[in-house]
Amino acid sequence: MPLEHCRIIELPKIHDPHGNLTFIESDNQIPFAIQRVYHVYDVPGGAERGGHAHKNLHQFIVAMSGSFDITLDDGKDKKKFHLARSYYGLYICPMIWREIDNFSSGSVLMCLASEKYDETDYFRRYDEFMRARWAA
Ligand code: TYD
Repeated sequence: MPLEHCRIIELPKIHDPHGNLTFIESDNQIPFAIQRVYHVYDVPGGAERGGHAHKNLHQFIVAMSGSFDITLDDGKDKKKFHLARSYYGLYICPMIWREIDNFSSGSVLMCLASEKYDETDYFRRYDEFMRARWAA
């Protein structure tokens, strides 16, 4: 799927003088049913994550705290997103290579995913991803 399917999605925000609240529901604010949630934290300065693509997985990534950059690559075009607030996130469709870096200290990345963890769903090598991408 091409890069145009990937986009920033703004989430509902319930403003309250006692603190704001944001929610995410399966197949509602995001275009898939949630099967798994994971978070990445305690990322050391200068670290890079990602460096893979998924065959079938849909994901939605939110910076719950701090900030980081996500660069998406569909094998043809690249686009960089800066995530910095918990009331929006980045939807990533299948067959997109991603690199995540520039983590601020104390940042927390939350990812909602459409499937349970499955290592066979990964392309861990860019050349394999590109072969599959252009074989379609
Ligand atoms: P990986 O997806 O490569 O992390 P990132 O994209 O943030 O760099 O996963 C890192 C390791 O964690 C890898 O060994 C697989 C394991 N893992 C699970 O066991 N379950 C999960 O839900 C995820 C996302 C990763």
